[in-house]
Amino acid sequence: MVVGPGDDAGVFRYKNTLMIETVDVITPIVDDPYTFGAICAANSVSDVYAMGGRPLTALAILGFSTCDFTSAVIRRLLRGAISKLDEAGACLIGGHTIEDDEFKFGFAVSGTAEEHTVLTVSGAKPEDILVLTKKIGTGILTSAVKKGTVKKSYLKEVIDSMLMLNKTASKAAVAAGAHAATDVTGFGLLGHGLNIAKSSKVTLILESGEIPFMKKVKDLAAADAVPKGARNNLDYCSKKTSFAESVPNAYRLALSDPQTSGGLLLSLPPKGMKKFDQLMKKAQAPYWVIGEVTKGSGRIVVR
Ligand code: CO
Ligand code: CO
Repeated sequence: MVVGPGDDAGVFRYKNTLMIETVDVITPIVDDPYTFGAICAANSVSDVYAMGGRPLTALAILGFSTCDFTSAVIRRLLRGAISKLDEAGACLIGGHTIEDDEFKFGFAVSGTAEEHTVLTVSGAKPEDILVLTKKIGTGILTSAVKKGTVKKSYLKEVIDSMLMLNKTASKAAVAAGAHAATDVTGFGLLGHGLNIAKSSKVTLILESGEIPFMKKVKDLAAADAVPKGARNNLDYCSKKTSFAESVPNAYRLALSDPQTSGGLLLSLPPKGMKKFDQLMKKAQAPYWVIGEVTKGSGRIVVR
């Protein structure tokens, strides 16, 4: 075993091959089955990208009630998933279905990485630059649309973001010699940031003015329209996070928003920034510098 539980994926060495293994299952966040299938695939392969690897194979895990869903819906779901797996260069090689009253879908994904290119949560070093590759807000926006608090048109940005693979960002991170990486998912930016901070025994400084949010997210947070997960995340993280007084509670909640198929949070050595920037710009992939790493002991400072 090269990397065990606690990272985005497990890494196992078999002879000369590093195998990367991960599993992720989610409940529907959009109505269209094709789109949801594709989002599930992007979300499940993301943990392989967060380890600096490339996904190779996927096994589908599908829970649904045969009374509520027709085979046409399932076919569209799988078609969406396969198209996204294709884009990732991964092959659907099997799966398993379970009778389940609550619809669930996801994948166990296997991938591989070259020796010395595995990115973990534990390598961040003081003076590293923190980079985020997608905007925050999928949890707050999808739950607000479900409740009818905001117009459906706000979903477009969320869906486009969830459909984007972390492939380019992962390759650029490896090429730039990233010290640590994770993908921002259910525990929010703060939760996943803390995982890097604790595992790497450093402190992450986040610049509140530099963190990118999707449209309407800060307004919704200010109106206290956030999913329960954001509150739970903030409760969990606040013991290990110091907020500047000027950072309002709404903003703290937004930083804790649980993400589906979120971006990569990378800890890059300053000397790797030029390479990273070149590769991301060449692929027209977005990224934001959101802070830096300092000496410390597993904390986040938001200033
Ligand atoms: Co992850
Ligand atoms: Co995961």
